[in-house]
Amino acid sequence: ILKEINLLPDQLIMTQSVQLVHSWVVQCLMDILEFQDKSPNDPRVLAEFVDTLVTIRNRHNDVVPTMAQGVIEYRDAFGADPLTSQNIQYFLDRFYMNRISIRMLINQHTLIFDGSTNPGHPSSIGCIDSCCDVTNIISDAYECAKMLCEQYYFGSPELELREINAKNKSQPIEISYVPSHLYHMVFELFKNAMRATIENHETSSTLPPIKVMVALGGEDLSIKISDRGGGVPFRKIDRLFSYMYSTAPRPTIGDHQRTPMAGFGYGLPISRLYARYFQGDLQLYPMEGYGTDAVIQLKALSLDSVEKLPVFNQTALRHYKFNQEADDWCVPSKEPLNLAAYKAAK
Ligand SMILES: Nc1ncnc2c1ncn2[C@@H]1O[C@H](COP(=O)(O)OP(=O)(O)OP(=O)(O)O)[C@@H](O)[C@H]1O
Ligand SMILES: [Mg+2]
Repeated sequence: ILKEINLLPDQLIMTQSVQLVHSWVVQCLMDILEFQDKSPNDPRVLAEFVDTLVTIRNRHNDVVPTMAQGVIEYRDAFGADPLTSQNIQYFLDRFYMNRISIRMLINQHTLIFDGSTNPGHPSSIGCIDSCCDVTNIISDAYECAKMLCEQYYFGSPELELREINAKNKSQPIEISYVPSHLYHMVFELFKNAMRATIENHETSSTLPPIKVMVALGGEDLSIKISDRGGGVPFRKIDRLFSYMYSTAPRPTIGDHQRTPMAGFGYGLPISRLYARYFQGDLQLYPMEGYGTDAVIQLKALSLDSVEKLPVFNQTALRHYKFNQEADDWCVPSKEPLNLAAYKAAK
């Protein structure tokens, strides 16, 4: 990742925020390297290692807003041409995926080496729950998003939740997963669905509910969150997953007092990373003028849920260097413009 940071535009690397993040990453690497010659069998070394991991985790708490600040500063000062935007998007997807993985490993290590078990969750091993109750987590995330929504809009849409366990009809849906990851994804989707529903029904007295369907099959666990918030034009789908796009007013950075309902435009791209991290995915299917279906696909079998991580190699390098190739599909709507230019030139 340190190598990839250096491939970002110089003016972005030079922002105070990116420099700060860079220094944190370097520091963490140095902290870990301290242990390369120490014995992992020595309990004192193990305890020291756990302390170091906790320090690293805390140091990186504010990476996302700090990095966001760097990108905002850069964009405000220099704008963003398509190549740069594409590179920043590519980099941030990889940078945050790496962060998700490292934090997951740190959490897992500190929880396991802490030695205490969680009596409330006997099926948990560290931060992994081998019987993660999916609908429970969805309901919790809904309640939390609802509270936030009511603070902002003085109302919130109801939840209609249905589930189908095709493997065992009488059993609740359970998979082996990291509950905090699942919570993060559905919480973000609920906030978006609630905001869209309310802003699209400002003049009506009732709000249509948010409908959630959960299905467990032989391979996949699918969660569909449907709102009637008016949707967005299909053309904008890619933009919604961009780290540089939000239609909400920009929140104040460093304001830990007030959790914003929406703001940086990181909700969707980061949630999609969480889904992809264990080989799943997250997609939006808007119907402009009506509403949006947001679908999370996860691997139901723990054997399929393996980490997906970025690697720095020639292919990655090429992405940063040569991704402005000519389009191999023509866009007819551009032709009259070219023709006009041609005629004018004649
Ligand atoms: N269900 C939805 N219906 C309509 N528009 C949506 C929906 N979900 C997302 N959007 C649009 O996509 C944009 C990006 O969403 P995203 O969750 O990534 O960021 P955000 O909600 O603006 O901020 P935050 O980082 O706080 O989530 C939103 O600003 C909104 O315009
Ligand atoms: Mg959001």
